Amino acid sequence: MAGMPRVFVTRKIPAAGLQRLQAGAAVTVWPGELPPPPDILRAQVAGCTGLLSLVTDRVDEALLDAAGPQLRVVSQMAVGVDNIDLDACTARGVPVGHTPGVLTETTADLAWALLLAAARRVVDGERFVRSGNWKTFDPLHMLGLDVHGATLGCVGFGRIGQAVARRAHGFGMRVLYAQPRALAAAEAGAARHVPLATLLRESDFITLHTPLNPQTRHLIGTPQFELMKRSAVLINTARGPIVDPQALYAALHAGQIAHAALDVTDPEPILMDSPLLQLENLTITPHVGSATLQTRDRMAVLAAENMLAGLAGARMPHCANPQVYATV
Ligand code: DGY
Repeated sequence: MAGMPRVFVTRKIPAAGLQRLQAGAAVTVWPGELPPPPDILRAQVAGCTGLLSLVTDRVDEALLDAAGPQLRVVSQMAVGVDNIDLDACTARGVPVGHTPGVLTETTADLAWALLLAAARRVVDGERFVRSGNWKTFDPLHMLGLDVHGATLGCVGFGRIGQAVARRAHGFGMRVLYAQPRALAAAEAGAARHVPLATLLRESDFITLHTPLNPQTRHLIGTPQFELMKRSAVLINTARGPIVDPQALYAALHAGQIAHAALDVTDPEPILMDSPLLQLENLTITPHVGSATLQTRDRMAVLAAENMLAGLAGARMPHCANPQVYATV
């Protein structure tokens, strides 16, 4: 331990990653079930050389100031880094690690789980059976939507959007995608690049896969819901604030769209008095897109590897602010 760089880890993480980290750093792990409150996080990180963060931790100027000038690395166990002020880290020469790639397929699986659950009313059916209401086969009951042959619209077509689209081919779906840049045919496969408005008008299932940034905050709001089919299903496994929650409530309540299936919300966690939770046509899970045993292990190991590389002054395997290497 003596002489090893001090690293604060903001939550218990899988042992595979923790052990890797402990081989090269003196590690303190926050033991709570909930994230450390900001003042405690500031106190814990003071004097540390590394911070291993999660999406629930705000890493901003105030935290970097509290950490002190010896902080050399932030390594986040997530692909998304919208909780981190990347510019502030870059300005201080602090590389920020993240974990792309290892969670792509797992998150795509969850998007599909939500899509299928919403289309085929899996959660409704479960509630119906458990509450003792299943009396007979009913030709008019629990009618959902066909997935096969439908049109899937991917808003954002990076790694996860493409992985969701690959699965759609097995269902014989037509796939559209919207993002500023059209991909080369080899990457896009059979998916067609269209303007967002076209995607919203033509898709039966709309799935969100953009990062959260000032351009994508409330990308889906009232004008966008108005373009969607009344039978449309919206799936969000990306970040809650990409969807305007009030507009979502209004659209679901008025039957402007058929259903929403959310793994992420704004705020997060969703407040228990949110009107969204009163709606039958909402399916919701608690931000578990990457939550499989194998993937969380891979994320923890990659976060540890990013951290150790950063502590050694080497280039991280996956850095979210690579421009930092030009400034140090
Ligand atoms: C991510 O990686 O960004 C997820 O939201 C958490 O796994």
